[in-house]
Amino acid sequence: MDRLSRRALLELGAAAPLAALAACKKAPVEPPGTLVPLASLNLGERVVVMHGEEPVELLRTTEGLTARSLWCTHTGCRVIWEEERNAYRCLCHDGGFNPDGSVLYGPPTKPLPSVPFELQGDHVFLPAPHPASG
Ligand code: FES
Repeated sequence: MDRLSRRALLELGAAAPLAALAACKKAPVEPPGTLVPLASLNLGERVVVMHGEEPVELLRTTEGLTARSLWCTHTGCRVIWEEERNAYRCLCHDGGFNPDGSVLYGPPTKPLPSVPFELQGDHVFLPAPHPASG
């Protein structure tokens, strides 16, 4: 190997990690959480987004926006919205919840919990839950 090609190899070897470092520095730092464009939420339409592993329903109405966990408060199955019943239903043990998330029937004793959110410009931001809060 002649001197020039050895030098070229050394430069290449040094350039690759520097390029990777430069790329890392340019990467945007995203806050942990879920960002949903407001434009994707049509008035009156129930939109389910995955917030980490939790299904969360976003509902935009003329009165505002709600974010509700779809984990049943009995033993944690996923509930579904049944338009014809105007209620949430959990098929695991036949639990039911009113449109406001309160218990309608069945074994659950606690309402479907609201999920905190913030409006950030033209997005809804669901912050990642604090590790201690579960
Ligand atoms: S898990 Fe929903 S009713 Fe039991």
